Amino acid sequence: MAYLRLRRLIELSVLDRPALAAIFPPRGEGASAAPAARWDSLYDQGAYDGLLKSEQRHHHRLLAGLVAERAPGGRVLEVGCGEGAFYQSLRLLKPGRYLGTDISTRAIAAANDRFAGDVAAGAAEFRVADGGPQFTADERFDAVIFADCIEYLGPVLETVRRYGALLAPGGVIGVAQWLALHPLGLWREMKTAVEVLDEAVVSAPWGGAWQVWTCRPKASGHG
Ligand SMILES: C[S@@+](CC[C@H](N)C(=O)[O-])C[C@H]1O[C@@H](n2cnc3c(N)ncnc32)[C@H](O)[C@@H]1O
Repeated sequence: MAYLRLRRLIELSVLDRPALAAIFPPRGEGASAAPAARWDSLYDQGAYDGLLKSEQRHHHRLLAGLVAERAPGGRVLEVGCGEGAFYQSLRLLKPGRYLGTDISTRAIAAANDRFAGDVAAGAAEFRVADGGPQFTADERFDAVIFADCIEYLGPVLETVRRYGALLAPGGVIGVAQWLALHPLGLWREMKTAVEVLDEAVVSAPWGGAWQVWTCRPKASGHG
């Protein structure tokens, strides 16, 4: 816990002082794209079981609230929805439609089980899909969500362009990311292509912290 808290101090100090990041080089190369089988095996090993605990979902709650304010009763697409941890909070705020997608068949099977009632009622749909460059949808959304997932989808500016094209007029992108140096760099890059609406850091006493933001692609980045 002490280590995590120290990391948080460093990351918070770098948040709006990018030059400081050079003093605290990130460990490793950060997260990157992986094949579906890799994600399935992580789910099989229970690597993400902890994400469903209440103490691990404060960022989902904040992001769900922000999305409900920005797009009340809206149509929501979530990319990399896993077992539905974000939907668990969003469903209480009554979106007009929810489509959760994930590259992992294991995660989608678990989400379908966890929310079988909502799925049967037509309130939610969970679908296996790779959210990378090939992703397409034949409908428009009032919000597109990436919760701890955007760094797996390829170059972030292309991701903003791709999903910006799926937004209905006035639609928003919502992102939650574990607070760390790599995602901070990604966020700085993303900010060049979006108008920031909300930006916050959610911090738990056990040392966990997440960035949460909502934004809208700048007109030039649309489509
Ligand atoms: C760290 S988990 C986060 C899961 C969930 N969003 C949450 O907040 O609990 C990352 C998720 O991204 C999914 N993922 C990774 N690459 C993906 C891709 N190319 N397309 C769709 N989902 C992907 C993984 O299967 C996994 O469910």
